[in-house]
Amino acid sequence: MKYIVVNTYEELSNKAADLIAAQILVKPHCVLGLATGSSPVGTYKRLIADNAAGKIDFSTVTSVNLDEYVGLDGSNDQSYRYFMNTNLFDHVNIDKAKTFVPNGCAADLKAEGEAYDAMIRDLGGIDLQLLGIGLDGHIGFNEPDYYFTGPTHEVKLDESTIRANARFFQSEDEVPKTAITMGMQSIMQAKKVLLIANGAAKKAIIEKAFFGPIDPQVPASIL
Ligand code: GLP
Repeated sequence: MKYIVVNTYEELSNKAADLIAAQILVKPHCVLGLATGSSPVGTYKRLIADNAAGKIDFSTVTSVNLDEYVGLDGSNDQSYRYFMNTNLFDHVNIDKAKTFVPNGCAADLKAEGEAYDAMIRDLGGIDLQLLGIGLDGHIGFNEPDYYFTGPTHEVKLDESTIRANARFFQSEDEVPKTAITMGMQSIMQAKKVLLIANGAAKKAIIEKAFFGPIDPQVPASIL
């Protein structure tokens, strides 16, 4: 494991974008695992600029996203599909048909999870998985629990996550209470994982996750 400490959000975004760009350069047909949240927005901006400048080509890239709110479809501006389209996919030359986000509106979420994991397996696994981290240590939407959950599955969101994510909604009541998330299996099977954390508020959880014991109450500690 390698820790890279930088001084500004811009430096963080540039470093993360450099690592993702390098992945695409060494393996143009790669599978990128992508994340939402505010942390990767700067990274995506830099990748968009690189693509516009002709430095990286997304045309052969496939992407799989970590998670989605249950009940929000891609036309909802709070859905993670919408986030990915507006923050990255609409602005680069990726084939949208090769961008995957779990379907939070699937009638059978268990079957959706199984199909999502099978698809990742069929793609040959994830070459580089980008992650943010929640204040409670969640990655994707894997919340603190008594055990680490392997497959893509439905989760009940913690009160603290609902509160933290309420800033993106009109009110806290509008934040969905459940989500579907890639589990620890696909994340841990990724050939490389790049976790980014920004700001003083994340300091305590980073210390716990990477310098404390491996504990499902701190999901990122599995890394
Ligand atoms: C959400 C996402 C996570 C993300 C987390 C942190 O809960 N499901 O993938 O890492 O938010 O978000 P932020 O980067 O805005 O702190």
